[in-house]
Amino acid sequence: MTQTPVFAKRLVAWQKLHGRHDLPWQASRDPYRVWLSEIMLQQTQVVTVMGYYDRFLKRFPTVHALAQAHLDEVLGLWSGLGYYSRARHLHRCAQRVVTEHGGVFPRSKLDLQQLPGIGPSTAAAIASLCFAQREAILDGNVKRVLTRVFGFGHDLSQSVHEKALLQIARQVLPQDESDMPAYTQGMMDLGATLCTRSQPACAQCPMQDLCVAHHEGQAQRYPVKLRKLKRSAQTMWLLFARSTEGAVWLQQRPNKGVWASLFTFPIFDSEQALRAALPTSLHHKLQFAPAFVHVLTHKDLHLHVVQLVLPKPRQLGESGQWWAAKDWPNIGMPAPVRQLLMA
Ligand code: ADE
Repeated sequence: MTQTPVFAKRLVAWQKLHGRHDLPWQASRDPYRVWLSEIMLQQTQVVTVMGYYDRFLKRFPTVHALAQAHLDEVLGLWSGLGYYSRARHLHRCAQRVVTEHGGVFPRSKLDLQQLPGIGPSTAAAIASLCFAQREAILDGNVKRVLTRVFGFGHDLSQSVHEKALLQIARQVLPQDESDMPAYTQGMMDLGATLCTRSQPACAQCPMQDLCVAHHEGQAQRYPVKLRKLKRSAQTMWLLFARSTEGAVWLQQRPNKGVWASLFTFPIFDSEQALRAALPTSLHHKLQFAPAFVHVLTHKDLHLHVVQLVLPKPRQLGESGQWWAAKDWPNIGMPAPVRQLLMA
């Protein structure tokens, strides 16, 4: 690949001049901080992550503090960020770093990748940003940049082609290790700020004259991904029970499946099942709201919310308890449940 040194050199120079430098996690090379930011940023936008990141670090300033925490508190601080398996893995990862690595994050991509929640690209991000290792990241942003610049038109939903793209990503890395942090950040910055999915800002791009997609006038054609995610649907009936004092009845979900370990209204598969869980004397008090759809990565949830106001708090099932409004901010809840509580 004749363009190899040019690509890396330009990217590093561009990052230094035009890339992002003021994001909170860029203030240090501390792998704990960088790891936390990379996990939070996996499926969430920078603007959303900022507030969560600062709050999280204030409460858990070190990997030891996080490892010692109770999972419920970690989920509470994660509440609203979504994709809660990230928070569960994060907690387990902190515990593994403490028990297996004496509280010090390993430096190699291979070792990092053994830890819960750290996939190949996140491992490469930590190894390159913190330890200047020559490892290539390959997240969604980077796939877009590379497929466009190098005119890589093969279907990335086939792993053989994804592997080929990773080979290209490795070939174009800077020769000089000390350039790795700026290079990795530059790949992320270019993908997020100029080489965007629709209407990329090619006029400002340092790669414009090298870019195959730009010469073809076809940036939007890349990356090619033919197989779409298979989606499923699930219907849930939620019993939103409130006491006249304003407390709500919440249950903790099992630690597997949708909304694992989070606190929610009791969930039923059908209206019939919901009714069956209550004494008949309460049935006439149930208020039915129109159903709405909540979209998860792999699933559409069709949610039916049934409200019930009770004059006196009473036990509503074997598991669960009444939660007063002052405690809601500290417990992990799925976004739609929190929205219903705040409405
Ligand atoms: N997305 C993933 N990692 C990032 C980082 N370090 N900076 C900005 N956006 C990101």
